[in-house]
Amino acid sequence: MPGSRLTLTDTRVLEIGCGAGHSTQALLALGHKITAIEENPHCIEATRNRLEQNGYRVQVVSRGTPKALGPAQGFTYETEYADIGVLANVDYTLIEGDVLQDTKLVAWLSTQPRFDALVCWMIGTHTYRGHSAVATARGITENGVHRVLVQNEVYDLAKIVLRAGGILSVADRLETPSTASVRDAIMQHHREQASTTTLRVDRLRHKPYAIDRVAGGITMVPTPPTDGSAVDRPYTQSLCAVTSIKP
Ligand SMILES: C[S@@+](CC[C@H](N)C(=O)[O-])C[C@H]1O[C@@H](n2cnc3c(N)ncnc32)[C@H](O)[C@@H]1O
Repeated sequence: MPGSRLTLTDTRVLEIGCGAGHSTQALLALGHKITAIEENPHCIEATRNRLEQNGYRVQVVSRGTPKALGPAQGFTYETEYADIGVLANVDYTLIEGDVLQDTKLVAWLSTQPRFDALVCWMIGTHTYRGHSAVATARGITENGVHRVLVQNEVYDLAKIVLRAGGILSVADRLETPSTASVRDAIMQHHREQASTTTLRVDRLRHKPYAIDRVAGGITMVPTPPTDGSAVDRPYTQSLCAVTSIKP
């Protein structure tokens, strides 16, 4: 049937957590059309600058208003998010939002055409996040816990945003899966994350992780070994990407 085959440039990708835009730039270079969700306004500006300097037209939707809370809420802060509304149809849209708390974002996404892919790579966060009401309410005490909770939300989001046959890619820094038990533990961890969905956790790919420090950047905290063994034994890290498929 004419027009029924998906070409690379037709591919619609939803990216959660674009950071400074390295992953977004790589996806755009492959010809994908991207909508990205990012919680940190500084990262939104960094991504906008990176992409505009590389010739991309960027549509930014700034919608967060932070509010300081009083003693009853432990002097935390919360961010209120505005509605998203109707957007231009451009190659790259960057939306300020927080997948841990943003019901307006989820409502907007559920009105959008389905995505071919959902990616959530290398989730981390800024140090102020520990003072947010959402972190306190969710019992988030450290970066690794935050990362897993964000990924859980992303698995649930996949139910809403992916087309049938669409893929979810979750990438993280993990113990190198050089043994069957480490590989199985990583896959089992993702099967548990996918257990609230119909997604089929399909495969694990990995490559060595080389730390590449960025001046002024926040140090990346690795996720500890997932095979249940003591976390204080020596282990090597790899970039591990787990792909799941929506039936
Ligand atoms: C280390 S960066 C990763 C950047 C990019 N994915 C990459 O691989 O180059 C992780 C990003 O996820 C964002 N993030 C963390 N939690 C989020 C949430 N709940 N909602 C939206 N973005 C979030 C952070 O603000 C940060 O910019």
